[in-house]
Amino acid sequence: MTDNLYHDVVIIGSGLAGLRAAISCAETNKKLSIGVISKVQVMRSHSVSAEGGTAAVLFEDEGDNKDSHIYDTIRGSDFLADQDVAELLVRQMPDEIYKLDDWGMPWSRKTDGRIDQRHFGGYSFPRATYAQDKVGFYEMQTLYDTCLKFDNIHFYNEWFCTSILDDGNNNFAGLTVIEMKSGDFLIVKALAGIICTGGAGRMYSFSTYAYSSTPDGLDMAYRAGLALKDMEFVQFHPTGIIPSGILITEGARGEGGYLINNQGERFMKRYAPKNMELAPRDVVSRSMMMEMQEGRGFVHETGVECLKLDLTHISEDRIKERLAGIREIGIKFSGVDIVNEPIEIRPVCHYMMGGIHTDIDGRTEMDGLWAAGEAACNSTHGANRLGANSTSECLVWGKITGMLAAGYAHTHLNSTIDIPNDKILLEEKRIYDGIFRGTGNVNPYEVKKELTDMMDKNAYVFRNEDGLTDGLKKARELSKLAWNHVDDKAKEYNTNFVNVMELDSILRVSEIILMGALNRKESRGAHSRTDYPNRDDINFLKHTLAYYNKAEPRLAWHPVKFTQYAPVERKY
Ligand code: FUM
Repeated sequence: MTDNLYHDVVIIGSGLAGLRAAISCAETNKKLSIGVISKVQVMRSHSVSAEGGTAAVLFEDEGDNKDSHIYDTIRGSDFLADQDVAELLVRQMPDEIYKLDDWGMPWSRKTDGRIDQRHFGGYSFPRATYAQDKVGFYEMQTLYDTCLKFDNIHFYNEWFCTSILDDGNNNFAGLTVIEMKSGDFLIVKALAGIICTGGAGRMYSFSTYAYSSTPDGLDMAYRAGLALKDMEFVQFHPTGIIPSGILITEGARGEGGYLINNQGERFMKRYAPKNMELAPRDVVSRSMMMEMQEGRGFVHETGVECLKLDLTHISEDRIKERLAGIREIGIKFSGVDIVNEPIEIRPVCHYMMGGIHTDIDGRTEMDGLWAAGEAACNSTHGANRLGANSTSECLVWGKITGMLAAGYAHTHLNSTIDIPNDKILLEEKRIYDGIFRGTGNVNPYEVKKELTDMMDKNAYVFRNEDGLTDGLKKARELSKLAWNHVDDKAKEYNTNFVNVMELDSILRVSEIILMGALNRKESRGAHSRTDYPNRDDINFLKHTLAYYNKAEPRLAWHPVKFTQYAPVERKY
């Protein structure tokens, strides 16, 4: 073990939430030292892949209003969102758009120079603020540039965090990390922490996520005794291209794109006659599955069933101006120029509504530790997120948690940080004796493929008791084999070692998804049980919590917060 490192506040993750939190922390107190630790280079964070938009109410003078954004979010969530949290998101968002604008964000503009917005699914007004179809890339660049103006923000790129440390009394005290370049195992002490490790969609094979989007951040929190909430709610975006899973933005439908079946029909008329292709994602993905099940799908050359997204009625100029990124993706990864022909797509794992259980301010169950962005579940999105609300969530709770963590660190500046030595020794033993020097002989990459293929099959858009039970059995069998085989024994830059640690977290967190899905005997939002097809507000209008327990996760329930919106049937 090498020397300890110290920061007043440590942020884990360098995506949108992490960078926004760092800026907020630095602005709140210029004297604090802030460390941003990331397992990738900053501009390799998965947030750069966000495409279509960031939701906010900007044009109340033209008929939009915040109550409508709040209600759309809550209705989209199938009434599982905490309503006070959805209200906070909506009320804080316009300022975030203008703040980014001030910091240099190249928002797309209307002809009169005002910031433009486009349609997205489930909204009553065009509210997705966009920058062509590369919103995440430009937001990340803007935030990273802004971070560089602060001398007190320090970046540690390609450092892999392995555990959260507390002082033995549930006060956050720091992290154990591996600096990948040297292979050194380090302790980072800190007064306050913010987990911003993003989503974890690489628990599925067919996924829009970067390969780095594994649940190590969620798993660290879980192993530290914090609850993961609502993990059974996994969002399947309607338009992933085949076979890569790369995202074709919902902005394509926002700009007027059609979904068509093998009869050439815009089939959404059967399922969402009012909103059509711009119904929320859970509704559209289910409709696509129904079309394919009823024989109206296409078969992709890989043998996979699919439908098509048709943009050929939109002018080439408009596509060049607003959807240049997906045009390039289509040409390079599907061999299809969307200007000339429809592109084959099918529902793809895209987002996790669940995450680390927090309160409305992003506070976790450990003092001095917050979580923000997709890693967190403050319950903004309930059972189904509306597109463009996630980059918004990253900005709002990056700001809030950064401010609160800075305040907390300031009031604890003279405290000493004591970390029980046995915790550090146990963690060293877990990763070096248990994983690095493990004696297993099964190829971890094959185990990962089997596990993620199983998730694609058994925990996809439609689920049922038999599939989930088989899936859980498979996940448990694989976890007995998997986690203790690292071929590469090098100390420096050992990505094989990192991949096996990632797999260790995938196995634990996928078990939580499967158990939560089995336990929720209803259909709500993105969780659709064919054996329990109806929403059951009497028994299941509540959040799932999963706590670490050696044998298997311990599940509990947590109430939903209501302000003024009573649950009704969703019709689009
Ligand atoms: O379709 C998209 O551009 C995705 C946006 C989102 O998930 O918020």
